[in-house]
Amino acid sequence: MDFKQKILIVDDKSANLFALEQVLQVLDVNLVKASNGNDALIAILNHDFALAILDVQMPDMDGYELAEFIRSEEKSKFLPVIFLSAVFSDDFHVFKGYQAGAVDFITKPFNPEILLSKVEIFLKLDRQKRELNLQNALLEKEIFERKKIEQSLRESEQKLQELNKTKDKFFSILAHDLRNPFNTIMGFSELLLTQKEFIPQDKADHFYKLINDASKSAFSLLSNLLEWSRSQTGNISFMPIPFNMAEIVSESIKLLEATAAKKTIKLISEFSERVDVYADMNMITTILRNLISNAIKFSFEESYITIGSEKQNGMVHIFVKDNGIGLKEEDVGKLFRIDTNKSTPGTQNETGTGLGLILCKEFVERNGGKIWVESIYKQGSKFIFSVPPKISGN
Ligand SMILES: Nc1ncnc2c1ncn2[C@@H]1O[C@H](COP(=O)(O)OP(=O)(O)O)[C@@H](O)[C@H]1O
Ligand SMILES: [Mg+2]
Repeated sequence: MDFKQKILIVDDKSANLFALEQVLQVLDVNLVKASNGNDALIAILNHDFALAILDVQMPDMDGYELAEFIRSEEKSKFLPVIFLSAVFSDDFHVFKGYQAGAVDFITKPFNPEILLSKVEIFLKLDRQKRELNLQNALLEKEIFERKKIEQSLRESEQKLQELNKTKDKFFSILAHDLRNPFNTIMGFSELLLTQKEFIPQDKADHFYKLINDASKSAFSLLSNLLEWSRSQTGNISFMPIPFNMAEIVSESIKLLEATAAKKTIKLISEFSERVDVYADMNMITTILRNLISNAIKFSFEESYITIGSEKQNGMVHIFVKDNGIGLKEEDVGKLFRIDTNKSTPGTQNETGTGLGLILCKEFVERNGGKIWVESIYKQGSKFIFSVPPKISGN
């Protein structure tokens, strides 16, 4: 689009306006004329001028007042103003003009060449100003775009780091934790097969138990590993449904009762009535299995573990509370994070992988909840997670 600069000319005498127009029309500009202060004000509010040429003596509003208005308006405060007057003979008028915001003066009757050359200077300045503004806007846009790119770069870098940690964890589990139970299973079953006649019954029974424990541990590890890897590759489906939490808790207790009983630990459900939630049941089952297994692992003999719920802030809080070894304050902050969630042996030297709580956190968050722990070292821990309640309609 062809852009033309605009000049405002204001004079109460049409002959003067005409004369100005005659001179200025050799320039490739748009001229906007006004014969009084009011019309000039309206023009200023409606146009974007490169220059204003104002007559000083006008009835109603003189050039000085008009110039003051121009300076006071946000839109025109930097608009160059040239005053036209017959009387600039004394310094007082010139001073008054500058105070009102003039940038130049021309005496009437004017010399057309001087007028033209002055106007041309201001038009040039205006073009340069526009060019600068344009470049500034482009620069700002570029800076904005660059910041956006930097931000997304940072984000993908973070994702990559997270993926790398996940991969490291995966391999470390495959390399160490999965090997151990198989070493036990293979070693002792081989002994039992080849040395059968030399092994007394009580020793054999002990070996059977070791094999059985190792298989269970390998199985639970594999279950976690499988679910976790499926969740990492996005292959796990999230299917929330309404269900009764009390029921799922009692099923989880049934599954782990035998393991707890071996350590003479009691699992107690505090649910006395239905607690209806809206969540993915498989994920919640995995969370409970992990939290209760941990509670058993880190509890001493002859103790008990309670599982219950509280309603808070519109969410259902489920807790698993033990009276076991507890956690040191400095270790609490390391839980649930793939880079710092470390496995420590249980009260009977049970081993682990440090995968359980990571999985719990992931599944709790998929369901729109949070997971955290309250623990006192050497007294016990309470793991709590929140799930959305069933609301009418779901
Ligand atoms: N109930 C608990 N009491 C004390 N420490 C716990 C409890 N649950 C988890 N922890 C600590 O958090 C660690 C990580 O738990 P988790 O991710 O389930 O891995 P794992 O059970 O394979 O060790 C445990 O090894 C233990 O140090
Ligand atoms: Mg665990």
